[in-house]
Amino acid sequence: MSSSASHRPAVLVARQVFPDTVARLRQHFDVEAYEGHTPIRRDELIARLQGKAGVFVAGTEPIDADLLQACPSLKAVCSMAVGYNNIDVAACTARGVLVTNAPGVLTETTADFGFALMMATARRITESERFLRRGEWTHWSYDLMAGQDIHGATLGVLGMGRIGQAIARRGALGFGMKVVYHNRSRLSEAEEAAIGARWLTLPELMAQADHLVIVVPYSAGTHHLVGAAQLALMKPTATLTNIARGGVVDDAALAEALKAGQLAAAGLDVFEGEPQVHPALLEVPNMVLTPHIASASLATRRAMAELAADNLIAALTGRQPLTPLNPEVRTSA
Ligand code: 8YV
Repeated sequence: MSSSASHRPAVLVARQVFPDTVARLRQHFDVEAYEGHTPIRRDELIARLQGKAGVFVAGTEPIDADLLQACPSLKAVCSMAVGYNNIDVAACTARGVLVTNAPGVLTETTADFGFALMMATARRITESERFLRRGEWTHWSYDLMAGQDIHGATLGVLGMGRIGQAIARRGALGFGMKVVYHNRSRLSEAEEAAIGARWLTLPELMAQADHLVIVVPYSAGTHHLVGAAQLALMKPTATLTNIARGGVVDDAALAEALKAGQLAAAGLDVFEGEPQVHPALLEVPNMVLTPHIASASLATRRAMAELAADNLIAALTGRQPLTPLNPEVRTSA
């Protein structure tokens, strides 16, 4: 049956996702699924959204005021990502378009990865492996690939939301780390006490952290929050790990700071302009680089997709979605 002949809402799945998630959506909607491996081009997205009531996206599809204007049938935008800097929520609200993201389901998996990336960075794990694979391991030496300790060190968390708190718990309770953090809003006294966390200004955090982990959402206000001036405050023995978004860190300035020995090492899972990686970063040996996989356990990616699908189904069948970003907007099929 063509969507025009159907009374069911039409939706677009704008990013490849688990086939059974798409199959579940087909039980409720006339589904068109984009099959490309790379993000759908904007003109194609707009063309395919004509007549669609809902769209399933990841963190990669920009939804802005111009797109909404060009797609007047759209009522719901449901993302399988927790970060929603690709979606202009205010513009959606102004047009009565409901937006959902996928918080909660990826917190622990992403915190595991952030911690792993920090450890790999501090203990030079990928640098060591490259050295071994190149056949350069000829003898033991007292300082061979010697790195920085995690246990007992000072963990600096920039952005103390759900994921930041989960990383802080791992550090404080699992590795005996002292936790310092910077966030727009402070944790409650009880939350701070549970992990012994102390709020600092950003310059204080940069100067005191042995291992800085960045988990702050990206916005105009956090663009290049960590740039040359902030990096210059770090200890030469410190590490920096970014699992937030490319653009929170000035990648070119980070490469320069590493080359100058202003910090010991860095781990990046996110990049400005990804999947492009700033060429200067590729030249720096004391870096661990991963392709935006912090939430990528199979179980969690499935949970993220299912939550987005649940939200889309609820939004277009007149029920309140589980995780709305603009709950003031109410939609119905
Ligand atoms: C996603 C993420 O994999 O949820 C987020 O905000 O960064 C990742 O978990 C990514 O956004 C998918 O596009």
